[in-house]
Amino acid sequence: MTRKSRLLAMGGAVVVAALIVAGWLMWKPAIAPVSPPPASSFDAQTKLAGARVVALGDCIVCHTAKGAQPFAGGLPLATPFGTIYATNITPDSETGIGNWSLEAFTRAVRYGVARDGHLLYPAFPYLHFTRMSDRDISVAYAYLMTREPVKETAPANDLMFPLNFRPLLAFWNVLFLHPGEQTADASKDAGLNHGKLLVDGLGHCASCHSPLNAIGGEKLGHAFDGGIVDGWDAPALNALGSAPKPWTMEQLVMYLRSGRASEHGAAAGPMLPVTRDLATVPEADVQAIAAYILSIQKAQPAVMGAATDGAGHVAGHADPSPAAQRGAILFGASCAQCHGPAAPMQSIGERPTLAFSTAVNATTPRNAAQMILSGNGWHGEDSMNYMPSFSDIYSDQQIADLVSYIRATYSQHGAWQDVEETVAKVRQENNAR
Ligand code: HEC
Ligand code: HEC
Ligand code: HEC
Repeated sequence: MTRKSRLLAMGGAVVVAALIVAGWLMWKPAIAPVSPPPASSFDAQTKLAGARVVALGDCIVCHTAKGAQPFAGGLPLATPFGTIYATNITPDSETGIGNWSLEAFTRAVRYGVARDGHLLYPAFPYLHFTRMSDRDISVAYAYLMTREPVKETAPANDLMFPLNFRPLLAFWNVLFLHPGEQTADASKDAGLNHGKLLVDGLGHCASCHSPLNAIGGEKLGHAFDGGIVDGWDAPALNALGSAPKPWTMEQLVMYLRSGRASEHGAAAGPMLPVTRDLATVPEADVQAIAAYILSIQKAQPAVMGAATDGAGHVAGHADPSPAAQRGAILFGASCAQCHGPAAPMQSIGERPTLAFSTAVNATTPRNAAQMILSGNGWHGEDSMNYMPSFSDIYSDQQIADLVSYIRATYSQHGAWQDVEETVAKVRQENNAR
């Protein structure tokens, strides 16, 4: 063999090896279909345990389209790369997961692979669910297999090239998927380990509350530093001490279980359904989540507390700009009946003043703008969190004026820049969704 032909042969071998590895990564075998297991094969205890797991994992939130049957899929999830539709996970054997064995279901949750072998998009948070225990996965399976089967097929995804080619997800998984059940951290007690499992695994809190990198993975080393989801800022969860009133265990548990806390703003946007689910799980789970979240706080700079008078009203930094002055008039007309110092909501409903709101004290005006544009939906049967949407009532400039006014009146932080641009951008994003 000449030197040249030896080099060529070696090069060829490397290419073949790379192709074999790529093929091995991308190709997953189908798991044989089964006939749907009869509902009677699961006992009541198991189904009850499954209800808890499914609530902690927010499965119903993503897998239910607006006004449609629970778990039947079809909800569009907007990503920077296009729209992905959550699929039907009812036990219908044609369009849902009725013919999935527990083995196939487990592989989907742990490795992001569908029964027929295709790779699933990480919009399905399997990167987090992979931490679940076998027991949690099997009770979730029992719960879903005993729901009403619904015949429904989600619309086709609308993703940009080359991401519409699923096998490429294999490389994404090499970078970001670290499959396997969570192992206990010996430096933490049982309670904190339980909380960590719920936060990092089932609760997938970091998937919204962390910044993403250019290819949509959670930025390494920045877990819980805050992210953007569905046009809302999901605030940092490791800086809860910098709130106008630093979060306590009691306030955090109250917030997570009811969407409200007496010293903080209410849960809104994508956080509202999370709290609805957490309202249905045992309180001990939520306490474990809260304890773990409080254990990951970064050292905070001195707190800029809201200077409130005895009645809980604050003096802001008084912004005499024309925008804030115009906003004051609009606030009197449209907002004061709920948010003004004399509003019944403040005294009877024990709602916090806007001075305690994370949205009003944030570094960007996004959530304040979003709140006024979108309002906040009914919280179950409870109307206490309801705020109407003002997007059809006020122009971008008027909403920007309101935002400037509430910042000036209720926060000690300086005025926001580019408020009207933010309002216009958020409105545009909302319309496109
Ligand atoms: C943040 C949204 C989100 C949450 C929360 C979520 N899913 Fe999904 N899930 C999706 C999306 C989107 C898909 C479709 C992915 C694809 O087509 O590649 C999916 C797909 C699946 C699949 C594969 C179904 C199929 O037909 O291929 C299963 C099984 C599944 N999810 C189960 C669950 C369970 C169980 C939970 C709760 C523990 C859950 N999901 C929570 C978004 C979500
Ligand atoms: C019908 C009563 C009602 C009206 C009218 C109303 N809001 Fe609200 N607003 C609420 C409720 C309830 C909440 C959530 C509960 C809470 O924060 O305590 C809320 C929350 C907010 C928040 C976010 C606070 C947080 O939770 O972090 C902002 C900002 C806000 N409102 C601004 C306004 C502005 C500006 C207007 C007028 C254009 C307005 N609201 C009109 C009831 C109302
Ligand atoms: C689907 C995305 C999503 C998921 C999942 C999610 N959050 Fe949130 N969360 C948000 C958004 C967006 C906000 C801000 C909106 C608001 O203030 O209501 C928020 C607000 C919060 C707040 C209030 C922070 C503050 O400073 O006011 C806390 C606390 C919180 N989330 C905790 C959690 C925990 C704990 C989990 C996991 C069990 C979780 N979140 C899961 C999107 C999410």
